[in-house]
Amino acid sequence: MKLTIAALPGDGIGPEVMTETLNVLRAMNLDMDVREGLVGGISMDTHGVALTDDTLHMAQQADAVLFGAVGGPANSPWSNPANKVRPEQAILGLRKGLGLFANLRPVKVYDALIDASTLKPEVVRGVDMIILRELTGGCYFGKPQENRGEAPNREAVDTTFYTEGEVRRLMRMAFDLARGRRKKVVQADKANVMATGRLWRAVANEMAKEYPDVAYEDVLADALSMHLLRTPRSYDVIATENLFGDILSDEAAMIAGSMGMMPSASLGDDMNAHGFRRGLYEPIHGSAPDIAGEGIANPIAMILSAAMMLRWSFGLAREADRIERAVEKLLADGIRSMDLKSLGGKTVGTRELGAAVIERL
Ligand code: NAD
Ligand code: IPM
Ligand code: MN
Repeated sequence: MKLTIAALPGDGIGPEVMTETLNVLRAMNLDMDVREGLVGGISMDTHGVALTDDTLHMAQQADAVLFGAVGGPANSPWSNPANKVRPEQAILGLRKGLGLFANLRPVKVYDALIDASTLKPEVVRGVDMIILRELTGGCYFGKPQENRGEAPNREAVDTTFYTEGEVRRLMRMAFDLARGRRKKVVQADKANVMATGRLWRAVANEMAKEYPDVAYEDVLADALSMHLLRTPRSYDVIATENLFGDILSDEAAMIAGSMGMMPSASLGDDMNAHGFRRGLYEPIHGSAPDIAGEGIANPIAMILSAAMMLRWSFGLAREADRIERAVEKLLADGIRSMDLKSLGGKTVGTRELGAAVIERL
């Protein structure tokens, strides 16, 4: 069956890492139909919005979506806070428009990169966790969300809102994921302050009873941010609401050593007409305006996101393994991107890294 893939490179280093990723997929001789579309700042310049209805439609029709990154430097016209249109609306619109309520962010420390982390090797060795972030609720989408009034009386409001159903479907995925792993779920909230936190905690505890084989614990999110740096190895699946998941996953990226190594999968629970699970796959990093155009971005996060696509949307576990093993091999061979240059070894640019993956497939 032909795999229809929407490739949305976006801005900054997005197109650079997307090119290498598509090269890797093509080198695997998969039967693919890749359709490219504009998102983010480049779409704003061309169409006046970050995500056009046509591009959203293309993503909805595809069997899976590969997404690079969107956004410009702080001083770019795209970043003006007074704008109604912002590059980041592209990724938010895709998540919502595709019903992708769960974001899987695996955090894995490769032995070869053990010294890339700013934490001590004995703390990070063997870390292997998944942060499961709720992706279509919370303060990202709650209404009202607005800035109002005039100086000196300006005000702003964001609304954190969750329904029991939204909590339940995310926690269901967390418990099911844990069953295929080390059978531990930690749920992070602010139940000591927030009503939504108390809802998460109540629903998660009720559901834990249906999973007696899984060890379940709730933790306050602020405390978890500390425990993550102290004993990262003890975590298996961390389930949490949208905003906390955003923050905790960037923190966890530095346990692994670099944002350039961190893939993600955003999933809903519906299958499309071809029997594929709908998903969007993207690195957790942004458009890295500070290094865009220099050809030094690490494409591994994007390439590993494509491996997640093969595994989660297409059920091609063997092909996903091939990519993941090729990445592990090149790291073991001492090949490094610039973000990992502190490790020594041979430092190469984006293109060479993509080629190094292909050589090792
Ligand atoms: P960023 O993730 O783009 O960059 C943070 C730091 O990590 C930078 O120093 C960057 O050079 C480095 N880095 C990131 N990815 C790398 C890679 N693959 N290889 C090597 N180094 C890498 O975060 P930021 O600078 O805070 O944000 C820049 C823009 O990206 C903003 O507009 C932000 O909103 C946007 N953003 C988009 C997404 C997305 O599209 N999903 C995610 C995060 C941030
Ligand atoms: C991420 C990013 C996005 C988020 C931004 C770009 C909207 O930081 O994917 O982690 O906050 O979800
Ligand atoms: Mn983020």
